[in-house]
Parts: sequence; structure tokens; C-alpha cells
Amino acid sequence: MGRAPWLPLLLLAVALSRCGSLLGQPRRSQQRPQQQQAAPQQRGLFPAVLNLASNALITANATCGERGPQMYCKLVEHVSRQPARNPQCRICDQRSRNPNLRHPISNAIDGKNTWWQSPSIQNGIEYHYVTITLDLRQVFQIAYVIVKAANSPRPGNWILERSLDGNNYEPWQYHAITDTECLTRYNITPRTGPPSYAKDDEVICTSYYSKIHPLENGEIHTSLINGRPSADDPSPTLLEFTSARYIRLRFQRIRTLNADLMMLAHRDLNEIDPIVTRRYYYSVKDISAGGMCICYGHAKACPFNPATNRSFCACEHNTCGESCNRCCPGFNQRPWQAGTFLVKHECEGTVIAFLLIVHHPNIKLIIASSYTTCI
Ligand SMILES: *[C@@H]1O[C@H](CO)[C@@H](O)[C@H](O)[C@H]1NC(C)=O
Ligand SMILES: *[C@@H]1O[C@H](CO)[C@@H](O)[C@H](O)[C@H]1NC(C)=O
Repeated sequence: MGRAPWLPLLLLAVALSRCGSLLGQPRRSQQRPQQQQAAPQQRGLFPAVLNLASNALITANATCGERGPQMYCKLVEHVSRQPARNPQCRICDQRSRNPNLRHPISNAIDGKNTWWQSPSIQNGIEYHYVTITLDLRQVFQIAYVIVKAANSPRPGNWILERSLDGNNYEPWQYHAITDTECLTRYNITPRTGPPSYAKDDEVICTSYYSKIHPLENGEIHTSLINGRPSADDPSPTLLEFTSARYIRLRFQRIRTLNADLMMLAHRDLNEIDPIVTRRYYYSVKDISAGGMCICYGHAKACPFNPATNRSFCACEHNTCGESCNRCCPGFNQRPWQAGTFLVKHECEGTVIAFLLIVHHPNIKLIIASSYTTCI
């Protein structure tokens, strides 16, 4: 028969760069159930948590001095021992050329020591009710919200709220001056001591951050992920609970000194010495909202695009879509799944097996391989 023997040549591997797995290679999907300690390359990818408030659009529905100069005074405890002239009193004026007299709400997200301030209740009891709204311009997963007061105590009764659409708001956390007011004002059993959470979407009421002290520069830390049951590997419930485009701080009662409380409750505001009522207002030096893009465990980067004012997920794991929320075309071998802290759940291409036999007098070439589709 032939002169030279046919050369059996079996090519089992056709390396298609960047195009997924090859037949015969162990697939990660077949290795389940996963061990608890997943190797880093097996885990989902998550973007860094950033302060999203600095890029937000922020509004407040009342600001000190918005209709011209107003006097306010700082809260100090022993008023009677004050010198007669009021060294603790200052002027706010939104129309002033002097930036030190203006306290717009943008001061709360500018990263500086400047602050926002509300009109004092000398202007009317309705100034207990002031609302601050942040629009983050797109939906993010919010990990925490930190509010820092400036030259007044922290707010007394208030609700931290979130919204996806700017119309329907849901509470994240209630704050009340006393545990009793959690029940009487908000009809919620108070959570005593430092805030703790029994469920991923539990909305608590706490008086922990509504104390009168410190009189200035107090802070309020609200954690939406840490301390919740599935914090280490967030459940769909926790993901939903922490999703927000709008964050609202609905202030409903200014914290007053106990000595002033009775007087304010039982007398006409006009009868009260203005030195007392001018001391009561809200102030906010800083609002931070730590959060990240929602990329469902499939992106480790989410850069901000100044052209669109939006951040976008840099999708990996063969996922596509604004939130990496579907498999890219051609990578539908398995249904899309969110990556988690433990498992990456990447999308995989359709396996196409082929066999190519070349007949030649001198060569018998058999290529048997498979590749994943790449489009
Ligand atoms: C601010 O808006 C809230 C509604 O969120 C309202 O209840 C409150 O009266 C408003 N405050 C002022 C001073 O207009
Ligand atoms: C992005 O936001 C800035 C500041 O709010 C604004 O001036 C600019 O017009 C916005 N750009 C787009 C494309 O919306």
C-alpha cells in the first residue's frame, strides 16, 4: 500500500483566545457544590464603595436667611450666665455676598467645613419640618449613610428614606428623641442601645443618635448592609432593600434642651424670648452616602462618565447590559445568574463540537475540538 504511513494527527485543542472554555477542560460549573472558602478568582466581582453624595443633586425645602438676613444663636447650656450681649448670635443671609453668611444645602456635600442651616423656629413652628433630598442620578446599592451636624445638636425626630423613582419613598430608618416617641410618633417598637438589625430589610426606630449631646458636630451613622444577617453574602432581599436613586432626610422635630421643651410646648411662640427660639434649627455639615453600582457581581469597576453624568458597570464574566444583568449574545449555555461573594457564576458560551478530517495521501489530519461562540 502506501509509501509513508499516514500521519495521525489529532488536534484536540484549538485555542481560541478570549473565547471561553474548551471541551475536556473541567468546567467550573461542574465543580459544585463549592467549598465555603472560594478562591478569589472564583468569586463575584464588586466595584469599590464610593461616596455617591458628592455627585448628587441636593435640595432642601428651607434654608436660613433665604428671604434676607436672620439672626440665629448657638445653643449653650447655661444661658443665664451668658454675658448680656449675645456673643453666641450670628446672622445668616442667603443673598449676602459674604459666603460666610450663606448656608446653602450644597455645603452639605462639598467636602468642606461649610454647612447648611435651616431657619430657626423663631420664624414659625413649621420649621421643625424640613426635608433634604439627594438625587444620585441612577440607582445604586447603598451601604451606609453618614450625617454630620454642624453648629447645632443632631436632629431629634426624623426619617431616613429611599426611593427608586423620586415619587414613592420607603423608610430606611426612624430616629426619635426618646424610645417612647418611636411608639407614639412612628408606631414602631424602639430598638434600644446601638442600632442592630434582625432581618435584611428590618426598619428600626432608634433614639441612639438623637441625644442632645454633643451640642455641635455630632454624627449619625446608619449602616444598611453591615450588621444585617446576609451582609457577608447579600441576599436578593438585602440587595432590594439597599437599592436607591433618591435619599431623603425628613426632619420632623428639632432637639431642644429639656428645660426649653416644656416652655415651647405650652406657650405661644410669640411670648417666648426670641433668644430661646433662635437657638433651635437644624445644621448639617456633611452627608455621605457610601454605595456602589449595581453590577450583580460581574464588574469590579464602575467608572463615572462625565459626558452622561452616569457611572457604568465594566462588565466581565461574559455579561452584558447596563447592570451586567444578562449574558452576552452567544454566552447562553447556562441561564444568567448574579455573582455572589462566594461564586462568580459567569456566563458561558454554547459549545459547538466539530470534527474535521482531511484526506490526503500523506496526511490524516483529524481535528476534533470545540469552541465557545464569540460574537
Ligand atoms: C418640606 O417638605 C415636607 C414634605 O416632605 C413638608 O412636610 C414640610 O412642611 C416642608 N417644610 C417647609 C418649611 O416648607
Ligand atoms: C452633568 O452634571 C453637571 C452638574 O450637575 C451639569 O452641569 C451638566 O450639564 C451635566 N451633564 C449632562 C450631560 O447631563
